[in-house]
Amino acid sequence: MNREKASQIAHAHHPIKAPLDDGSVRRLLGHALPRGDERVLDLGCGTGEWLLRALEAGPGVRADGVDISADALDHARRAATDRGVQERLDVHLGKAEDFAPGRTFDVVLSVGAAHAFGGLLPTLAAARAHLAPGGRVVIGDGFWDRPPSPEAVEMLGDFADLATTMDLVAEAGWTPVHGHVSSRGELDDYEWACWGTLADWALDHPDDPDSADALALAGIRRTEWLRTYRDTWGFLTLVLRRTVD
Ligand SMILES: C[S@@+](CC[C@H](N)C(=O)[O-])C[C@H]1O[C@@H](n2cnc3c(N)ncnc32)[C@H](O)[C@@H]1O
Repeated sequence: MNREKASQIAHAHHPIKAPLDDGSVRRLLGHALPRGDERVLDLGCGTGEWLLRALEAGPGVRADGVDISADALDHARRAATDRGVQERLDVHLGKAEDFAPGRTFDVVLSVGAAHAFGGLLPTLAAARAHLAPGGRVVIGDGFWDRPPSPEAVEMLGDFADLATTMDLVAEAGWTPVHGHVSSRGELDDYEWACWGTLADWALDHPDDPDSADALALAGIRRTEWLRTYRDTWGFLTLVLRRTVD
C-alpha cells in the first residue's frame, strides 16, 4: 500500500502527527506565540496542522511550512482554504534541510521530524539558522522513558533519557521556557487513533485493492507498538529560547 495513502487515512482522526492532544498543542502554541503576530516556520510541517492552529489563534500570524510530501502539502493548502487562513500560509515542497527562505522567523517549529536532520541537536542547529533574535523554537522529539530493548532502538532510533536530553539542549545554548512530556493517555491515544482508523477504513472498504494491505499494516504497527516500544518510549515537546542570542 502506498505510504502516503496509509498515513493520510491513519491520521484522519489525529491530524497532529505526534502524540499530543489538542489542549497540549494549544498550550505549547500559546507559549511559543505570546504576541499573536509572529512569523512562523515549520520544518517538516506535514499537513500543516500546527501552523493552521497558530494561524487560527492569531489573526496577525503569518506562516510558512516545508515538507517533502506533495500530498501532505496539498492537504495543508485545502485545509487552509477551508479554515479561511490561506492568505497567511505558504507551503514549500522540498527538504527542510535545504530550505533557504532569505528571511528569519520569530518562531521555528519542528515536531516529529528530527530524523530528517539526523536528530534533536542537528534539528535545533537548523532551526537556529532560521531564527530571528529573541525568537522561539518549538521542537518535539522522542526520548527513552526507560532503558529500551535493542529492537526498540533499531525501530525508532537512538534517543537519550529525559534528563540527559535536557542537559544536551542546555549545553547547545538553549533555555526551555515551556515543555510538555506526552502523557500515557496521549501516547496511547495517538497509536490507537492511527492503527484503529486504518483498520476501520480497511473494514469499510473491502473492495478497495489496498484493503487487505491496510488491515495487515494496522495489525503489524499495533503489535510493534505494544511489543517493542510502548513501555520505553516517550515524547517531549519544548519551547526554547537562545540562552544568549
Ligand atoms: C511525523 S510527521 C510530523 C508532521 C507535523 N510536524 C506534525 O506534527 O503534524 C513528519 C513529517 O516530516 C516530513 N519529512 C521527513 N523528512 C523530511 C525532510 N527531509 N524535509 C522536510 N520534511 C520531511 C514527512 O514528510 C512528514 O510530513
